[in-house]
Amino acid sequence: MVESITDKFGRPIRDLRISVTDRCNFRCRYCMPKEIFGDDFEFMKREELLSFEELERIARIYAELGVKKLRITGGEPLLRKDLHELIAKLAGIPGIEDIGMTTNGMLLKKHGQKLYDAGLRRLNISLDAMDDQLFGEINDRGIGTSRIIEQIEYAISIGFKIKINMVVQKGLNEHEILPMARFFKTLPVTLRFIEFMDVGNDNGWNFDKVVTKKEILETLQGEFDLEPLEPAYFGEVAKVYRHRDAESRLGFITSVSESFCSTCTRARLSSDGKFYGCLFATDGFDIRTLLREGISDRRLKETLTGVWNKRDDRYSDLRTEITAERRRQRKKINMSYIGG
Ligand code: GTP
Ligand code: 5AD
Ligand code: SF4
Ligand code: SF4
Repeated sequence: MVESITDKFGRPIRDLRISVTDRCNFRCRYCMPKEIFGDDFEFMKREELLSFEELERIARIYAELGVKKLRITGGEPLLRKDLHELIAKLAGIPGIEDIGMTTNGMLLKKHGQKLYDAGLRRLNISLDAMDDQLFGEINDRGIGTSRIIEQIEYAISIGFKIKINMVVQKGLNEHEILPMARFFKTLPVTLRFIEFMDVGNDNGWNFDKVVTKKEILETLQGEFDLEPLEPAYFGEVAKVYRHRDAESRLGFITSVSESFCSTCTRARLSSDGKFYGCLFATDGFDIRTLLREGISDRRLKETLTGVWNKRDDRYSDLRTEITAERRRQRKKINMSYIGG
């Protein structure tokens, strides 16, 4: 039986974002800068990560509390060994209608088919520039654009539904908005422009680095004929437009200029089994310890209900009210730890 639980602001729980590893094969400067995530950085040990059985159990309980969508994230999720086995388990949970994955795409040719066969259907792939050199600098591993494009084309060919995520930063890649839009107009994908956010503590964010949806849309409308679409479902993160003369779509994720906390139905699970009520949370609730101490399903369900009932996060609504000093003092979780 599916229950419908709500948080302090009456928001139901609908999505669970599951991070399966804190590691990544890229070192994007805004997410895992090399100075911090260098050779001596201590990533999680194998036994600290939730096993696939533990993940399935948590997801099943959340499905009974109203979760319908699962999203697999990282770090880079394709680094987790035998991930298709997890997908197969999750795809079998009653009530789960949709499973997606957010990835940098590098390993899709290697693992894509197995994941598709296991039941994964949607991929959100990050790509921040068409220019080879700039993209190589952004990922800080010198990986060129064509290496990702070929993976995207492969993923399309085996049947995945694909969104491309471009984080836009002022002074870094805003001149890539039009080249990206031109290239992806001809492919069956949705290209989404993401306002640069102050996630984590190490990404050098300030308001001046944000290019807002309004600015990006003005740039696009100089060249393309676009029509806004109604949200596809309650709480959709992106605002989506369609080309009047092509099948592909464009979207905007406006966490900074138009926050969407009032419809936020997302729970996040870190790879070591902590629940977070928000991307900008400071503390998590440790589910792993309860599992490993042998909690029953009934008790776990009650506990997770209580945690959601207490949730009052709405960071993006409050961002502008918090002073820069207080924002700096707040010790937030890292993006690579919670997966965006
Ligand atoms: P679908 O709509 O299911 O395709 O996925 P999504 O857009 O929720 O997931 P994705 O991982 O592709 O996220 C894209 C961007 O949206 C990332 O930069 C995320 O950090 C951001 N994002 C997703 N959910 C939230 C949220 O709840 N709050 C904020 N502030 N940003 C979010
Ligand atoms: N602001 C906005 N989006 C970000 N991402 C990573 N860091 C940030 C940030 N500071 C994006 C990634 C990926 C998604 C999970 O989040 O590029 O597409
Ligand atoms: Fe890796 Fe994604 Fe972070 Fe880049 S943004 S370092 S690809 S997790
Ligand atoms: Fe949800 Fe927090 Fe994002 Fe607001 S800032 S939409 S509460 S994750």
